[in-house]
Amino acid sequence: MNITVDGRAVPAEEGQTIGAALHAAGMRSWRTTRFGGRPRGLFCGIGVCFDCLVTVNGRTSIRACLAPARDGDVITTGAAE
Ligand code: FES
Repeated sequence: MNITVDGRAVPAEEGQTIGAALHAAGMRSWRTTRFGGRPRGLFCGIGVCFDCLVTVNGRTSIRACLAPARDGDVITTGAAE
C-alpha cells in the first residue's frame, strides 16, 4: 500500500505506523521546532515526546509513531507548511 507524504508516494506495510513508514523511506526529520528551527522526527517512538507530529487526512497534531498507516492516507509534514 501507499501513503502520500507532502505529495510524494511512500510505501507502507500493513500494520506499520506512519512514523515507521517515513523512517523506512529515509526521512529522519519532518518538522522543526518553533524556536530555533531544529529538526524533529521520531525520538521516543512510543507517543511520549510529541516530536513526530504530522497532519493526517486534514487532522492536525497526530503522533506519527502511534498512528497506523492506512492505504491512501494523505500526510502533511511541518516541512511543507
Ligand atoms: S516519537 Fe515521541 S511521540 Fe512520536
